[in-house]
Amino acid sequence: MGTLHIQNIRLAFGDRDLLDDVGFSLSESSRAALAGGNGTGKSTLLKIVAGQQQSDSGTISMTKGMRVAYLPQSDIVLGHRTVMEEMELAYSRFFPMLARQSELETKLEGVTENDGHQSMLLELHEIQQHLIDSGYYQRNAVMEQILKGLGFVQDDFVRNCAEFSGGWQMRIALAKVLAEEPDIMLLDEPTNYLDIEARVWLKNYLKLYCGGVMIVSHDQYFLDETVDEVYELFNGKLTRYAGNYTSYLRQRESELQALEEAYKRQQAEMERTERFIERFRYKATKSKQVQSRIKQLEKLEPVVVPSHLKKLSFSFPPAPHSGNDVLIVEHLSKSYGEHHIFDDLSFVVRKGERLAVTGRNGAGKSTLLRMLAGIDRNFTGTIREGAGLKTGYFAQDTEHTLDQTNDVMGEVESVAATVDIPRLRNLLGSFLFSDDDVFKKVSVLSGGERSRLALLKILLHPANLLILDEPTNHLDINAKDMLLEALRQYDGTMVFVSHDSYFIERIATRILYLSSDGPEFFEGDYQYFSWKLEQKEQVASLAGNNKRRSDGSAPGETESGDIQNAAEARKEANRRRNRRKSLQQQADSLLEEAEDIERQIAETEALMGMAENYSVSEKITALAKRKQELQQLHEAKSEQWFEITGEIEEMNANEQHDT
Ligand SMILES: Nc1ncnc2c1ncn2[C@@H]1O[C@H](COP(=O)(O)OP(=O)(O)OP(=O)(O)O)[C@@H](O)[C@H]1O
Ligand SMILES: [Mg+2]
Repeated sequence: MGTLHIQNIRLAFGDRDLLDDVGFSLSESSRAALAGGNGTGKSTLLKIVAGQQQSDSGTISMTKGMRVAYLPQSDIVLGHRTVMEEMELAYSRFFPMLARQSELETKLEGVTENDGHQSMLLELHEIQQHLIDSGYYQRNAVMEQILKGLGFVQDDFVRNCAEFSGGWQMRIALAKVLAEEPDIMLLDEPTNYLDIEARVWLKNYLKLYCGGVMIVSHDQYFLDETVDEVYELFNGKLTRYAGNYTSYLRQRESELQALEEAYKRQQAEMERTERFIERFRYKATKSKQVQSRIKQLEKLEPVVVPSHLKKLSFSFPPAPHSGNDVLIVEHLSKSYGEHHIFDDLSFVVRKGERLAVTGRNGAGKSTLLRMLAGIDRNFTGTIREGAGLKTGYFAQDTEHTLDQTNDVMGEVESVAATVDIPRLRNLLGSFLFSDDDVFKKVSVLSGGERSRLALLKILLHPANLLILDEPTNHLDINAKDMLLEALRQYDGTMVFVSHDSYFIERIATRILYLSSDGPEFFEGDYQYFSWKLEQKEQVASLAGNNKRRSDGSAPGETESGDIQNAAEARKEANRRRNRRKSLQQQADSLLEEAEDIERQIAETEALMGMAENYSVSEKITALAKRKQELQQLHEAKSEQWFEITGEIEEMNANEQHDT
């Protein structure tokens, strides 16, 4: 069994030690998470391990012949190959062998039975056997299974990669890494671009995967299912915690408590010392003590509290006045080539509304937001803006809204009004860009730092319409909570996309559901939407039942005789089979959702414990509320599961009765 050893890695930027003597090992059976707040160096460490970035010192070694594959957090840009052609590159390790094979074949054609003939035949045979044993000829089925699991449809396979959005290109890159079947996979935030179905699929795929994995993710529920050890990067040091993610949080809780206390003690001590120095600085009798205190202060190793526990808060500026109709969409149609996304869509976004756009991967959520924001004007129909509209847009791929060549300060200065410039430093500080951070180039920022910067830029212009495409991606839990709170306070209109059902639930007042039958509006919040969806399912299932009863009640009575009866019966059996299959799928996914919610409840309880330790009362109240909401949601899901499994049982019983 192979092992990948990482030892004594050091990396400093200026006077900041990002990685300070970091080491760990991964084997083919490793299931590891790499945790830590935004900007702690997770992506940097993975890049170093993958050989894509240099460290200042340290060694990386692995057992000979081992294969390691790496998926970066963002910035994948694919060229003009089709999806399938791109996927073929996952098999590039076979290319030399394939080249040798065809070379041998050509040579063998030309020679008669002379000296080299036998050995060439033998080599060819060995190559062919190896290709068979390593599953090379099954690759089409494998690629198809992976692509479909990640949300692609058959028609996508021949589409050009460059046609896909940044998020989808990331998904192609992820599919490639999976198809490579490496001994060790390094995945940097693979869940960011996946909707719930694709996430569940990936989770199950990784659970059954034979190689080792190291995953960075801010999605605790995903990690809980996929890892059994957690490495945490904090303040340059890497610490290992055995167990899943929840257990890591629990262990961390007590440590953080101690850390927080030490921090408070140190702060008090420093203040006291400073007061002492200040007070006695000019008293000759005390000067010796003063000198030693100053030295003492200088020597002090400061206690550092993780940034994702620092409290940060901000609010959106009050929304300027706008008309009652904010956006008027009429007869909107949009397609990418042959691919129709919207067909004659009309609706009005009204003032104060918080419209969540949901739907499966590829339904056109980001496309719609880009059109509403005026970024994409390549459509038919009209989108009219209401009076006095001021839009703030957060793109799914922040690289489109940030200038990589700017530094952080320059980036915000470029959009700030002159009167705001003096307070930019403060504002940046409240978004956790302090001191030298403000002179960092945008191109070196971490995923979470970029998201925060993009949000901050929106904040600089008072807007009455916020169009936000997956704003919580890349954010650590603290930043996510902060954004949620700020958006709840915001008094303007909002159109947003999110995969985070908790987030949608807390914010949305209306839902646009892009289903396979076309777009559909639900007037009301997310709970109402889920309830309505469920009702629709029930009506559909009742219709299915009625059909079954009326068809099945009098076999043989139709005039067209036995042949038709037999055909009908076959059709009916098919229908029942499909119905049962779909019910079973629904039941399975409900169970999965309920389990997810259970984990979220456990998670919330853990956080409550943590918040109690820090006596952050408003946080405790918010968490208690969240817990209660989760419990209600859990009740609803388990109720639905109960009903659906009841129906399956009934179908089974009827069938037994029939036969
Ligand atoms: N060349 C550089 N010069 C200065 N700072 C840098 C450079 N490259 C990265 N950094 C900083 O190093 C820190 C770590 O970045 P990294 O992308 O590894 O963070 P991360 O832990 O992956 O965060 P996230 O959760 O937001 O993805 C960030 O603060 C980033 O701004
Ligand atoms: Mg990162």
